[in-house]
Amino acid sequence: MIATRIRGRRTKRRPGTFDPNDAHRVKHTRIGVWDLYQEHQTDLPPIPGSSRLETYAQIIQSMPYVIRMLKDILSIRRCWVLLSAFLVVEVLNSLVPAVSLWYSGQLLRLVETAIETRTVDTTVLIHVAAGRIACTIASRILQYAKSRITFPLNMSIKQFYAGHIFRSMARLDVPTFEDSITQRQLQSAWTAPWGSSVAWATVQMATGIVMTVIRLVSQLSVLFAVLREQQDGPLLAVLSFSQSLFTWYSARKSVFDSLVWAATTTNEDYIRMQGLKHLVNDPPHRKELVAGNLDEYVTTQFCEASQRVGDDAGDFHELSRAHSIKDSLSIASILREPLRELPQIVFTLRAVQKPMTIPLSLASLTLINQTATSFSSTLFALFGESFSLGEQFAEVRKLYEIENVPNKVVDGKEPFPENQQSLRSGISVEFKNVSFQYPGAEKYALQNVSFKIEAGQLCVIVGGNGSGKSTILKLISRIYDPTEGTILIDNRDIKTLKLADLRSTLSILFQDYTHFPLSISENIALGNPALAHDADKVREAARLGGADAFIDKLPEGFDTYLDRPVRDYYSDLPEGTKTLFGRTVNYSHVRGAGGLSGSEASGLSGGQMQRLAVSRTFMRSLSSETESSVGMLLFDEPSASLDPTAEHDLFERLRKLRGSKTMIFSSHRFGNLTRHADLILYMDDSAVQEEGTHDDLLKRGGEYARIWNLQAKAFI
Ligand SMILES: Nc1ncnc2c1ncn2[C@@H]1O[C@H](COP(=O)(O)OP(=O)(O)O)[C@@H](O)[C@H]1O
Ligand SMILES: [Mg+2]
Repeated sequence: MIATRIRGRRTKRRPGTFDPNDAHRVKHTRIGVWDLYQEHQTDLPPIPGSSRLETYAQIIQSMPYVIRMLKDILSIRRCWVLLSAFLVVEVLNSLVPAVSLWYSGQLLRLVETAIETRTVDTTVLIHVAAGRIACTIASRILQYAKSRITFPLNMSIKQFYAGHIFRSMARLDVPTFEDSITQRQLQSAWTAPWGSSVAWATVQMATGIVMTVIRLVSQLSVLFAVLREQQDGPLLAVLSFSQSLFTWYSARKSVFDSLVWAATTTNEDYIRMQGLKHLVNDPPHRKELVAGNLDEYVTTQFCEASQRVGDDAGDFHELSRAHSIKDSLSIASILREPLRELPQIVFTLRAVQKPMTIPLSLASLTLINQTATSFSSTLFALFGESFSLGEQFAEVRKLYEIENVPNKVVDGKEPFPENQQSLRSGISVEFKNVSFQYPGAEKYALQNVSFKIEAGQLCVIVGGNGSGKSTILKLISRIYDPTEGTILIDNRDIKTLKLADLRSTLSILFQDYTHFPLSISENIALGNPALAHDADKVREAARLGGADAFIDKLPEGFDTYLDRPVRDYYSDLPEGTKTLFGRTVNYSHVRGAGGLSGSEASGLSGGQMQRLAVSRTFMRSLSSETESSVGMLLFDEPSASLDPTAEHDLFERLRKLRGSKTMIFSSHRFGNLTRHADLILYMDDSAVQEEGTHDDLLKRGGEYARIWNLQAKAFI
């Protein structure tokens, strides 16, 4: 689906959008089944390394966000203490190698004097030995302390940011949330690398870098101090360390030389394989998979597709990593190994020149080499697999920018309604030349639609599938804004009204209603959060929606979770297998003891689900002590999954509930309801084709009359 969307965009070419076909601006690389498009930075000054400069500039640009993150972390309860403790432990930890190096130096000097003079200063020896042992113990204790501090610190930070992201996400409206750019942004905020939070990963990386610097500086200064008296010592030390720095620098190459890139695949087989995987993996498809005998077919198809794609099939990030490793045969990488030999070669040359210094420098060389190796492995651990600091900081920026994502449906300023009394007799709504296209759709869902529903009227919108009925209801509740034209509510432009006010005066049952992964009682209660704590009101709403009877029959009644959002964990042995001593693995004991349920889905029927959804809208119309704030009720095909008796009962209750409020139904059935309507809008082909009362429309003898006669005959 994504692939086709991108392909569509490619042929269309809108100004200002990223166009993968424009060869001047975009570099194309094939990585397995993926096409990587990177933007040439033609607007950059033609200085070598300017693109790297831009990468570093990213760090500076993200700095305000990183500082804000630090402030936020420090504001979390306990984090002040934990973070300080963490830093102290880290600093001590990075000093241990230098101290231990100093003792190694002392030990070497001891050996040297021993060789020269054939005597050993035992007090110094004991001192050095004790020092070295103390170092190893200290390092173990520090490691323990670090693990004790890290866990609660990580958890608190994670929890804080979970709340932060939750709030930023909950406020987004439909068109913004459905936008693929927003979706990508949200995805990266929830699923940070290594399963930890972006914030914590950043703290770790930043301290890691600082600590590496501390380690480097402290080890280097000790080394210089130890080798000061030897003429070649500093030279060899510098050689060794520059070699490890060079290794680090040359290994750190990525496939991406641009900040702006996108990757897509057009490989039919790969796309098909993903589709087949979903088909087999996702529960909703299982029924059809089984009933259609599809297992044999999908398996062959999958294997054949997989064979055709071969090694090229894979996740983009996985492949791009492999690609960058494969490509790393550069001059730098060829020079890397000989450079490692350089200190030895220099040492040999010097030894030939001045044979007298050999024993001294030999010992020192070992010392230097050891340190250099340990140092470069630290560097690798830090940078080898992880992101660069720039990318990490950019992640922090992304994290904070979620709260700045502007909603596409812009809030109005005027309060609504002016007085609560006016709600009792309903709200009027008028469409004036309204046209609407769903974001990204080519076709108009509504085209030049105009009508007026007066306050207190009962309006029924009828029409076939896809004629635009649901779209009208979505525009009234400003789920979307019209592409052209205006909507008036009580003769005021809907865009000028405060969104929260507008929505609190509407009660809507969507056609594609959903159920929240919460308890049944909460599913109903959320129709009216102000009354959510009132169990009697919830029960009342369930009764009006015709749901109380079946809810009471459920083992957990109103507390039943429709779909348990948390999966239980079980050990790896599958139920029914045998252990070494022939015992059959059976989970019923642990399940029973822990009160775990055997199945996770509740299995309500479509009609029962619909009754729950209807109960939620009734909940919204229930009033507390004050008058209900709802002035218009919108129902999108409310009886689609109900049997005829249930439908009749529902309409009776809705009519009572309504009082004299405005009510709009949509329906693809022509029946019962249309005869009571004050206004019928007959929709076809994204437009209102006929409007009037039932009698008007029958007299007119148009499409409505034709279909009515067709359906009525079938019923009578
Ligand atoms: N979320 C959406 N994105 C793109 N197109 C949509 C979306 N929802 C509906 N449409 C299209 O808009 C048109 C009108 O849909 P809708 O108002 O749901 O029709 P109805 O409710 O009368 O069956 C249809 O052609 C449908 O394909
Ligand atoms: Mg619909």
